[in-house]
Amino acid sequence: MQKTIAITLRILLHAGALSPLLLLIWDFTQGGLTANPIREIQLRTGRYTLLLLTLTLACTPVYNFTGFRQALALRRPMGLYAFAYASLHLLNLVGLDYGFDFALLWEDIAEKRYIIAGFAAFLILLALAVTSTKGWVRRLGRNWQRLHWLIYVAGILAVLHYLWQIKIAISAPFIYGIIVLVLLLLRVPAVSRVTMKYFKRKEGR
Ligand code: HEM
Repeated sequence: MQKTIAITLRILLHAGALSPLLLLIWDFTQGGLTANPIREIQLRTGRYTLLLLTLTLACTPVYNFTGFRQALALRRPMGLYAFAYASLHLLNLVGLDYGFDFALLWEDIAEKRYIIAGFAAFLILLALAVTSTKGWVRRLGRNWQRLHWLIYVAGILAVLHYLWQIKIAISAPFIYGIIVLVLLLLRVPAVSRVTMKYFKRKEGR
């Protein structure tokens, strides 16, 4: 039974994470990406990255409060999908928007604070993706866990990146901001102990 649940969850994860990409490719080939397709790709890949990043952060609290162990197995693939969408997001800007003209890119956007926050979040996801293999877990030992706490910093930077670029209707970045902060708070040992007691769970992660 456990195995069937694990396989079903994996299938759902891959289908859920890949379908926005397939839809994006489909819309691109059908000319369905608004009058400014490059910007539309930028916005869509950015939204998927943030959504996947937030879902990755939610896996451990879901396990802590429900005991649903399978949630832990979803963290790595979900985080890697977040990194993949972030890479597409960056590649779209550098390649399609700026035609790999790094001098122009630097002149136009490098000093914007929302770009600095987005780029810092991307670098963290890159480091976490590289060190997500079994070999790196072994090599880094206890430092692996410390390094992977940086995912919360990436989450906060990603929310700031979103917040700082929006001029009107800032509700979406605020909602993401609150969710990321709550998920972070739930990992603070004291808070986690109290909430787990409420959910009658003995051991957490
Ligand atoms: C973890 C990393 C990142 C996340 C989660 C992220 C997320 C987002 C989100 C949610 C949006 C707005 C979508 C909307 O308005 O609906 C966005 C837009 C954008 N992002 Fe990112 N981003 C990341 C990294 C980066 C990086 C590294 C760059 C460039 C160096 C970048 C450049 C942009 C640009 C140029 C826009 C569009 C701004 C506009 O045209 O209004 N992002 N991103």
